[in-house]
Amino acid sequence: MARRPANRFVCQSCGAVFPKWSGRCDACGAWNSIVEETVEPTATGGTNARRRAGARINLVGLAGDTPPPPRIETRISELDRVLGGGLVPASVVLVGGDPGIGKSTLLLQGACALARLGRKVMYISGEEAVDQIRLRARRLGLEAPTLELAAAINVADIAATLEAEKDLALVVIDSIQTMWMETVESAPGTVSQVRASAFELIRLAKQRGFSLILVGHVTKEGALAGPRVLEHMVDAVLYFEGDRGHQFRILRAAKNRFGATDEIGVFAMTDQGLEEVPNPSALFLAERRGHIAGSAVFAGMEGTRPVLLEVQALLSPKAGDGGARRAVVGWDTGRLNMLLAVLEARCGIKLNTMDVHLNIAGGLRVGEPAADMAVAAALVSAATGQPTSAGSVYFGEVGLSGEIRQVSQPDTRLKEAHKLGFEQAFLPRRIARGNRKPSAPDGLGIQEIGHLGDLVSLFTGAMEGADA
Ligand code: TYD
Ligand code: MG
Repeated sequence: MARRPANRFVCQSCGAVFPKWSGRCDACGAWNSIVEETVEPTATGGTNARRRAGARINLVGLAGDTPPPPRIETRISELDRVLGGGLVPASVVLVGGDPGIGKSTLLLQGACALARLGRKVMYISGEEAVDQIRLRARRLGLEAPTLELAAAINVADIAATLEAEKDLALVVIDSIQTMWMETVESAPGTVSQVRASAFELIRLAKQRGFSLILVGHVTKEGALAGPRVLEHMVDAVLYFEGDRGHQFRILRAAKNRFGATDEIGVFAMTDQGLEEVPNPSALFLAERRGHIAGSAVFAGMEGTRPVLLEVQALLSPKAGDGGARRAVVGWDTGRLNMLLAVLEARCGIKLNTMDVHLNIAGGLRVGEPAADMAVAAALVSAATGQPTSAGSVYFGEVGLSGEIRQVSQPDTRLKEAHKLGFEQAFLPRRIARGNRKPSAPDGLGIQEIGHLGDLVSLFTGAMEGADA
């Protein structure tokens, strides 16, 4: 009797498998994410299949000479930086991002750059026709006679093509959600299809030694749509983010087996495609207007690179009887609530009758607690109507008792502030005598702040001074 293909129900968000359908996934809590999929009977799987006897695997010691992985630089330095110095042969990179953010543009530019260096590069699109890609390349002024283009979605065909190629340096698959394998009986874009297609392509990359870049779409909630499972199968996961209303695009590593995950690459989307932004601080601060209450400059770090950003706060009397609004763009709402609580409990600044809007100008997302002091300065400045002095930067973490805590790399932050013409920096006071004084460049004044109250009194003191 022929085996009836079994059906199973797979969550398209986390990949969990259930014997029957339900409206909510028990594993990840997503609603309406469970889809019925047919399981293909495989030759090796199943309980009845004969098992091959295992062979002993080789074990080696921890010590031993392993050279660092060779790198293929794309010469797009913002991209190379996030990759950890360039592409690693036989490695797999997943590039995620919202539709329309510029993934295809970035990868086409990267592929062309590599092809121009004489490397063999293939760009396979399942989303756009070859003519469309050619048109875009022409519009961007990209020339790379050796770049090989194809529009294809059938993984078996792609695999057959790749098997026959020699000396391939890079293959770009745009996007993994459009790829399709005949042997898997579910629609393209489902977890089963994505997983099987990726598995096949990854196997080829490891076997043939080329770098593989997979493009993946991201849902509104910020998770890679469907292929969460993919994150475990690849060597690096990069997210391409940015606000479509803004020019800036940030490439960020969420996982990287060959490099640091806190590096970012900054690009600007122009009509010439993506341009590298070697000095993000200047760009992020370009539209700042000095001497406005509610604005403070944060001297932040993104990976090894200092980035200065403007923090903007706006307070308005709350409307209606409900709770006050806390609207945050580019920072963490929980962290804002904590700061507001500390300001109220430790410094007597009550903002519970005010709606608070907080914005990191330029569209960058800040994750560092070091931004606390800049956010507090922006809030207190907005509350008192006293502008922060135009030439000042702030950094320092705020603790629950209002103490200002040390943060990493003060020297690098100070150097960047000085480079951009700032004259004064507010930073955490050294507690232990052993703590080295941060080395401030000449011409940059340093104000050590021990408690949030000291920062507040800089503003309220100025107010009293003005009243007198
Ligand atoms: P695209 O790379 O197609 O995005 P993705 O692959 O992530 O879906 O980028 C599409 C957007 O980028 C589109 O809205 C137009 C914009 N764009 C520019 O502003 N300038 C350009 O030179 C190009 C090629 C695209
Ligand atoms: Mg695209």
